[in-house]
Amino acid sequence: MKISVCGKGGAGKSVIVTLLANEFRVRGYRVLVVDSDESNSSLYRILGFDHPPVPLMELVGGKRGLKDKMAVRFSSGEAEVKMEVLSQDRILVKDIPPQHIIQRDGIRLLNIGKILHSLEGCACPMGVLSREFLRKVVLEADEVAIVDMEAGVEHFGRGVETSVDRVLVIVEPSFESIELAMKVKELAAGAGVSNTWAVLNKLNSDEIATRLRKELEKRGMEVIGTVPYSPQIFDACLEGHKLDENTASEEIKILVNNLLQK
Ligand SMILES: Nc1ncnc2c1ncn2[C@@H]1O[C@H](COP(=O)(O)OP(=O)(O)OP(=O)(O)O)[C@@H](O)[C@H]1O
Ligand SMILES: [Mg+2]
Repeated sequence: MKISVCGKGGAGKSVIVTLLANEFRVRGYRVLVVDSDESNSSLYRILGFDHPPVPLMELVGGKRGLKDKMAVRFSSGEAEVKMEVLSQDRILVKDIPPQHIIQRDGIRLLNIGKILHSLEGCACPMGVLSREFLRKVVLEADEVAIVDMEAGVEHFGRGVETSVDRVLVIVEPSFESIELAMKVKELAAGAGVSNTWAVLNKLNSDEIATRLRKELEKRGMEVIGTVPYSPQIFDACLEGHKLDENTASEEIKILVNNLLQK
């Protein structure tokens, strides 16, 4: 199972990636978290690691090296990008060099790459590397990959979702977040993923939960899970420390049950 977790900036993608990773681990899955956000750098902290892994981008020669491998051809007036980014056709998690994949208690973390310098150019190579890596990585039945996407929908433009089989869109109680969720559903369908569901986050009352669910359902979006507003989550994110594994555990159990039944 390869799950893309996306949504509006700040909606709670990284938090829910972490909660999902913890719950899948508790159920005996070997979890691969893929940090595909080229801007934010502290996912490793709420996951409970004390340092981030060396970005996968460095394995392919950095952004410059990757760009050199991108041969641009023009056919019938359209740019066609031919990629030979990762030489293997199939990548097994166990074959990834250890500096690029750190692990603790059944959770492994891999980081695609980050924008580090002014004027270093756009993040397209990261998107291409995410897409190619996710397409080629072979998961066993007891393995799950959970991808923490960058905010918004640019990753759809880069085709990253063509390499996953489920899309979770995190929705916080705001009109903007609802609208973006609907856009995600449409773009995911365009990428061939029909398994797109919403997870409601930062719910501070039953009334808000009901209203948000209603707004999404009337637009045709199925809600697969909910996460309440939690002071523990807020604190962990403020301090940059590990998210307690029991946080919102009942709701995350329901979310994972629903995901596994789909
Ligand atoms: N369930 C929650 N309860 C309380 N606060 C939350 C919850 N989920 C997220 N937050 C708050 O929202 C902030 C953003 O969460 P998070 O970093 O997971 O969002 P994101 O979607 O990954 O953001 P970005 O788009 O920047 O990557 C957190 O710093 C935290 O303060
Ligand atoms: Mg994030």
